[in-house]
Amino acid sequence: MDMHAIRNFCIIAHIDHGKSTLADRMLELTGTVSSRDLKAQTLDQMDLEQERGITIKLAPVRMRWKEYTLHLIDTPGHVDFTYEVSRSLAAVEGAILLVDATQGVQAQTIANLYLAIEQDLTIIPVLNKIDLPAADVERTKDELVELLGCDRDEVLAVSGKTGEGVAALLDAVVERVPEPKEAASGEGLRALIFDSIYDDYRGVNVYVRVVDGTVQSGDKLTFFATGATIEAAEVGSFNPKLYATDILGPGQIGYIVTGLKDIRRARVGDTVTSAKHHAGAALAGYKEVRPMVYAGVFPKNSNETESLREAIGKLQLNDAALIAEPEQSQALGVGFRCGFLGLLHLDVFRERLIREHAIDVVVTVPSVAYQVSRTSQTDRGDTEIIRSPQGLPDPSYIMRIEEPWVKMDIVTPEQYVGGLMQLCQEYRGTYRTTEYLGGGAEGQRRTLLRYELPLAKVLVDFYDRLKSASAGYASMNYEIIGYRDAAVRKLDIIVAGEPEESLATIVYEDEAQQVGRRIVARLKDAIPRHQFEVRIQAALGGKIVASERIAPLRKDVTAKLYGGDVTRKKELLEKQKKGKKAMRATGRVDLPPEAYVAVLKR
Ligand code: GTP
Repeated sequence: MDMHAIRNFCIIAHIDHGKSTLADRMLELTGTVSSRDLKAQTLDQMDLEQERGITIKLAPVRMRWKEYTLHLIDTPGHVDFTYEVSRSLAAVEGAILLVDATQGVQAQTIANLYLAIEQDLTIIPVLNKIDLPAADVERTKDELVELLGCDRDEVLAVSGKTGEGVAALLDAVVERVPEPKEAASGEGLRALIFDSIYDDYRGVNVYVRVVDGTVQSGDKLTFFATGATIEAAEVGSFNPKLYATDILGPGQIGYIVTGLKDIRRARVGDTVTSAKHHAGAALAGYKEVRPMVYAGVFPKNSNETESLREAIGKLQLNDAALIAEPEQSQALGVGFRCGFLGLLHLDVFRERLIREHAIDVVVTVPSVAYQVSRTSQTDRGDTEIIRSPQGLPDPSYIMRIEEPWVKMDIVTPEQYVGGLMQLCQEYRGTYRTTEYLGGGAEGQRRTLLRYELPLAKVLVDFYDRLKSASAGYASMNYEIIGYRDAAVRKLDIIVAGEPEESLATIVYEDEAQQVGRRIVARLKDAIPRHQFEVRIQAALGGKIVASERIAPLRKDVTAKLYGGDVTRKKELLEKQKKGKKAMRATGRVDLPPEAYVAVLKR
């Protein structure tokens, strides 16, 4: 196949700036999908994507435009899915940087642009939604010119809704995006796996960008990293459904049906080569993503642990950033401690379990991964990563605890800067810089506010607070910058004198009282009254920082007394009091599962 006639590109943008809608117009205009078959946002194939109107999984498609073959990879725009974007970028030569002309440059516009620049991609700046009356074409152009240092006339303008400007954009893709080049011709096959999915009938299908050589069905193939050897049952491309082709050549994007049943043997980022003519070196893989947010995931139905294990395994194939290890809880049973990139990632995971695997789960309050250095060298090494409060060693063994910090970019109209700075301070942030994007009158300028914050705080409603502090106008993007010292301790929850291990949490020392009060109040509502008084306490080390009591059920022991025998009445009440005291000393409170759920559940 002639590589001169191939163009590989993706669309990057802030969430909701219209990537999927633009991709639909391209599918229509190129005749890839007829208008009749085109439901809105065709590339968002998961039900969940259709419902929420967001792209979660990248979706590749092959189109014909004039005498060219175009491969487009649609990418997600949300911050939690940045790793999906970086994988798409490694498989293409160019990127359309799409900006909603009614919104202007936003936080993820900038973040995604940096990712594309890192991959050396040709950038085509494009304004979208120019059909809307609120579109401010000139001002958004200013912002893009400022951001990219490009000429004004390099910026194209389209409407993904009406299709205006889309043909010119496809022409620009052909003209500006470089054709693919073989990295090492004659070396034999090298193809980069940028995604993979599990098919119940055909096993693992890997999505690849062929860099060198060719692959066809029947070829014996080897995976560099895992060493798995397979025979390609089928190769093909996307329209956007899978369709078989005879061969995939250099520069092409397509899929290989591997027949593998073990999903761990076909890793995203691995290189596929020929088993007979093994290439010398693997292609550079992807930046490995490390989950920083952890939560316990338990089946609601306790006999579904095995199904849950299987379902997580299948989702992992499709979701390189998801990790899971078994975890046991006295209240919730056997489940998994799972690692995520952020809260949206967690939500999507939970919903996919329900929709794609019909498993309902209880998800515990998420926490970050702490790094703990012990006072003395132990056989587990000097520092360890703690993913749950239960994993925290006894304070006497802890030399220091560190927590992940993020670099937070906030893009906002200037008038909200004050309120947003206050919010960042409240969330333990450290101020870095303020920059202005493009022109605009003073007070009206779009502002890039940079802060550094502990990730643990970002997890607690930060996004919602940011939106309400800016009337919805501010957008944010963050990336992990490393670990820093954290003044955190384990907060124990004690019910009727017994510490409840699975209710413990890790808190900032100076917030312990506030968090403790909230937890004991929730427990007070969730635990039924007993014959005796139940004390619920939150303790930091040995010190009680919050406490509630649930009054005992009171049986009217004097009910049978007629008349006014005061002495007898007193006697009976005294007896009851003693009995209760004895019960309090020995009584066990059986915490109902709802009590755990009230505290643990998000
Ligand atoms: P994510 O995949 O979630 O990042 O979103 P996206 O960038 O793919 O955006 P999507 O295509 O889902 O569009 C977001 C919203 O904007 C939808 O309601 C679209 O109908 C609307 N929209 C997209 N393009 C245009 C346009 O050119 N004009 C108008 N008026 N609306 C548009």
